[in-house]
Amino acid sequence: MNAAIYPGSFDPMTLGHLDVINRASKMFDRLIVSVLDNKAKIALFSVEERVSILKEAVKDLPNVEVDSFSGLLVDYAREQKIHISVRGLRATTDFEYELQIAQTNRLLSKGMLDTVFLTTSLEYAYLSSSGVKEIAAFNGDISPCVPDFVAELVYRKFRNKE
Ligand code: PNS
Repeated sequence: MNAAIYPGSFDPMTLGHLDVINRASKMFDRLIVSVLDNKAKIALFSVEERVSILKEAVKDLPNVEVDSFSGLLVDYAREQKIHISVRGLRATTDFEYELQIAQTNRLLSKGMLDTVFLTTSLEYAYLSSSGVKEIAAFNGDISPCVPDFVAELVYRKFRNKE
């Protein structure tokens, strides 16, 4: 069985993430979308909330699972017995950051964890979770960026902050 992990912060999951998930789910028999529990970063959604959003979004994709991890991706991948990490590349600005993660993971795993990049669909090329949060913070329209149910949850978060 060929399996892959799609790791990320997903705070929150965007349509760009969902595009990568959909396409990767057709390339691998099993895809685990895994949310990094990064205690050093202040997030809008808790890890549990992000996992639950992703679960709702992928409920019609039978070969996609949602999980979370903390610590190094290489350790998590070894536990899961998975050798491929999937990441989306939006524009050249992502390249340096992604190259660093991919090369570090290959080095740390002694070649056991490789990275497959999917170029995101053009309409999502400049979409980011941080952009979504900034737009929502100013009460802008995030409906082109995230599924409707996610937009509602994001707006609710900002309303509760007021
Ligand atoms: O969605 P993001 O924040 O761009 O995802 C980044 C992620 C989660 C893929 C990356 O930060 C990660 O894998 N972190 C886990 C810690 C780790 O393994 N670090 C070594 C590689 S730089």
